Amino acid sequence: MVYRTVLDDAQGLSADARAAYARDGVLVLEDFVSVAQCQALQARALELVAEHASRAPGTVFSARDQRHAKDAYFAASARGIGAFFEEGAFDAQGQLQVPLERAINKLGHAMHDLDPVFQAFSRGPRLQAVADGLGLADARLVQSMYIFKQPGIGGEVNCHQDATYLYTEPQSVVGFWFAIEDAHRSNGCLGGVPGGHRHGLKEVFRRQADGTLRLEQLQASAPWDMEQLEWLEVRQGSLIVFNGLLPHLSEPNRSAQSRHAYTLHAVDGRAHYPDSNWIQPHGAPFTGFA
Ligand code: FE2
Repeated sequence: MVYRTVLDDAQGLSADARAAYARDGVLVLEDFVSVAQCQALQARALELVAEHASRAPGTVFSARDQRHAKDAYFAASARGIGAFFEEGAFDAQGQLQVPLERAINKLGHAMHDLDPVFQAFSRGPRLQAVADGLGLADARLVQSMYIFKQPGIGGEVNCHQDATYLYTEPQSVVGFWFAIEDAHRSNGCLGGVPGGHRHGLKEVFRRQADGTLRLEQLQASAPWDMEQLEWLEVRQGSLIVFNGLLPHLSEPNRSAQSRHAYTLHAVDGRAHYPDSNWIQPHGAPFTGFA
């Protein structure tokens, strides 16, 4: 079972928590943020949808293919704020079938640097303490996403490793996944393969010489051991931290409830960050938790 604990503000991450993270590649910190903080972030996310969705060119984000990779809007969102629609939000004629606030798959990918409410949520001594405890000595925030996982149409995310998209040498990316609403099986909670981070990186999403982005295979792929899959049902306010090599996924949201989550990805500033990664600093250095 994935280790669950509450952060001790005076002590930081306990030795048990650190050992469990090393073993499993994932850890749950319950009640890490308050319900009020979750509600404030949610309200701000909806404002950003109202602000940005009208300029989004009907861009469908699907983890099952990489069509969006060629989209200039997606590229600009690397160091900006973009809104991306759910695939199931449109009918065959391309008309929205649901209200706008129910049609968005996610916001990304630099709210942590550009929006004051997200900036404040994404920083502080408690997050710094977690990063320190996990061995991220010089944590640098590279990416933020607000994921709506809409009721009824929130699509599945196939099993993947986040280091595929944020590659460093050595591997250093850590995912910080905040449950902005309760997450359970029926609304598409996160599932992870504890220990799966010890079997290397399978694919890398890299900019090619012609400027396009492509997934490249790195290993003759032994399938992930899905018998080890554990569903990480968590309460609103919980934080799931996981190694960038942890295989993880989520199912479609077939329920009538949304499943909002906020994710941050940090790399170690001491690791090599190649210029073939899709997110580049573009003159504004990646910032830390402080
Ligand atoms: Fe992921």
